[in-house]
Amino acid sequence: MENLEDLKSEILNKINHSAVLKELDDIRVSVLGKKGKLTEMMKTLGTLPLEEKISLGKGLNIIKTKIEEAIETQKKFLEEKALNEKLKSETLDVTLPVRPETQGRIHPVSKIYEEVAAIFGQMGFEVAEGPDIEDQFHNFNALNMPLNHPARQMQDTFYLNNNPNKPFDMETAYVIRTHTSGVQIRTMEKQQPPIRIIAMGRTYRSDYDATHTPMFHQVEGLVIDKNITLSHLKGCLHDFMKAFFELDDLPVRYRPSYFPFTEPSIEMDIGCLKSKTELKIGAGNDWLEVLGCGMVHPNVLRAGGINPDEYQGFAFGMGIDRLAMLKYGIPDLRTFFESDVRWLKHYGFTPLDFSSMTDGLSNNGGLAR
Ligand code: DAH
Repeated sequence: MENLEDLKSEILNKINHSAVLKELDDIRVSVLGKKGKLTEMMKTLGTLPLEEKISLGKGLNIIKTKIEEAIETQKKFLEEKALNEKLKSETLDVTLPVRPETQGRIHPVSKIYEEVAAIFGQMGFEVAEGPDIEDQFHNFNALNMPLNHPARQMQDTFYLNNNPNKPFDMETAYVIRTHTSGVQIRTMEKQQPPIRIIAMGRTYRSDYDATHTPMFHQVEGLVIDKNITLSHLKGCLHDFMKAFFELDDLPVRYRPSYFPFTEPSIEMDIGCLKSKTELKIGAGNDWLEVLGCGMVHPNVLRAGGINPDEYQGFAFGMGIDRLAMLKYGIPDLRTFFESDVRWLKHYGFTPLDFSSMTDGLSNNGGLAR
């Protein structure tokens, strides 16, 4: 019997010191398995005289039960220990940033480029381009602004001296484009209707204050097809403004105006609320001018090689910087072009926030912090 006690404490000791489930199972097999120590001992019972058989059998059974209980308890303990270790190794610190903050920023003007292209892109417009250095035919003449046309004075043009060896010739000098409208002509020269394009880019005028800089940005639009009417213009531009300002109920109004290249010419206003300290885009008692537009003048179509008796179109032009100032509450245009990284960090956008009509235009006004 003493032997049995020793055996029992030896086995229980092993069980209680097992560190992993595999080790515990090996112990179980070595004691209780088919060829286990205890099983073998039980097999010998048959050969013993009755008395011994009874007392040894009893002793062995008690040990067996004790060992089974000990294995069960240790198993639970080791299982729990293994689970805790697993959970510990898989812990996520939700307070950590997903990725390190990006340092670079997208300039608000680039952001507006993306947004405008996303909106008109979804309406089926293509993006067209033209040169910054432009001849006067494309910048003025073909747009129904011949030399000495009074409208030329509306734009404080930068002229370039084409040939430094000759005296400056006002009539043949190139200009740096005063607007993107020249791309209308360049597109008509290249492409037959139907035409549906926007053109975005740099434009230049000799002007400088809080809302004017010598270089600024415009987006031009041109649609030419058969049976295009003023209603198409109004619907298209209202849809654009609603999408751009992310306001479904944005009120707009159209006022008669004058541009040489459109007839009739119109200016578009959006509703807003002006107070001493704030400008809120949306419903209110005030109006803000946002763009010029109109039906393409027959002379312009002719200059672009398109028959005005067969085709009509509408065009529009607006300032991208102004759109950025309005949408993102940036008060001074001059700061756009000062390349101050602190300004860019404040007003810029994180590079991975793409603008799209389905996933969000400005990513919930997602200004970088
Ligand atoms: N080119 C004009 C400007 O710079 C803007 C403009 C007005 C463009 C009416 C257009 C238009 O295409 O139809 O002030």
